[in-house]
Amino acid sequence: MGLAVRIALAGLPVVIGSRDPGRASAAADDVNALIGTRGCDSTVSGAGNLEAADRSGSVVLSIPFAAQAATIEELAPALENKIVISVIAPLKFSKGRASAAPPPEGSAAEAALAQLPSARWVAGFHTFAADELVDPDLKLDADILIASDDNDAKLAVMNVANRFRGARAVDAGALESARQLEGAVAMLININKIYRAHGALKIVGI
Ligand SMILES: NC(=O)c1ccc[n+]([C@@H]2O[C@H](COP(=O)([O-])OP(=O)(O)OC[C@H]3O[C@@H](n4cnc5c(N)ncnc54)[C@H](OP(=O)(O)O)[C@@H]3O)[C@@H](O)[C@H]2O)c1
Repeated sequence: MGLAVRIALAGLPVVIGSRDPGRASAAADDVNALIGTRGCDSTVSGAGNLEAADRSGSVVLSIPFAAQAATIEELAPALENKIVISVIAPLKFSKGRASAAPPPEGSAAEAALAQLPSARWVAGFHTFAADELVDPDLKLDADILIASDDNDAKLAVMNVANRFRGARAVDAGALESARQLEGAVAMLININKIYRAHGALKIVGI
C-alpha cells in the first residue's frame, strides 16, 4: 500500500490489485483516505490482479517471492510489453536474522525476466520500509535505486520516483543490480532491528 500512496501523490492514477477484488477496493479506500486531504486528485481504485494489470500502463509486482512465478504466469497476457517493476526480495529468516535467498538466476527480477522476457522488467524501491512509504507526510530523505536492462523503462520509473517527496532516484545500472538491491533488504531489516529504526540508503558522491 505504501507504494500506492506515493505513486498517487506523484500524480499518477493507481489500480491496486489483489487476489480478492474486495480486499483491493478496501485498500484503495484506505489509500484515498490517506491522500484525500493533500490536494491530490489521482484516482485510486481496486480490482482483481488480472484486471488491475490489464487496466494499467505499468505494473508494480509487490508479492512474496514464493508467489512470483505463479503470479507472472497468471498475469502474463496483461504484462507483455509493459514496464513491470519488481520490489520483490527473496529472503529467509533464521534466529531472528534476515538473509538473502536468491534464486539460481541471481535475483527475483532476473528470474522474472527469464520467465517473461516480453515484459520490460525494472527492479526498484526495495530499500524503503512499507510503513514509511505509507505515511504521506513523511519526507523520505533517501535514494530510490532503480535497475533495468531497458533504459527507457528505467528512466520512466526514475521520473516517477523523483516525484516522491524528499527522495532522489538513482540509476543503479543493469537488472543484474537487483542482486544487490534485493540483498540490501535483508541487511536493512537487520540494521533496523539493531538500531530500532527505519534506515534507508543514500549514495554519496554522485
Ligand atoms: N514490506 C517492506 O517494507 C518491503 C521492503 C522491500 C521489499 N519488499 C518486498 O516486497 C514484496 C511484498 O512485501 P510485503 O511486505 O507487502 O509482503 P506481503 O504483505 O506478504 O504480501 C503482499 C501481498 O501479496 C499478496 N500475496 C500474498 N501471498 C500471495 C500468493 N501466494 N499469491 C499471490 N499473491 C500473494 C497478498 O495480497 P492479496 O492477498 O490481497 O492478494 C499480500 O497482501 C516482498 O517480496 C518483499 O520482500 C517489502
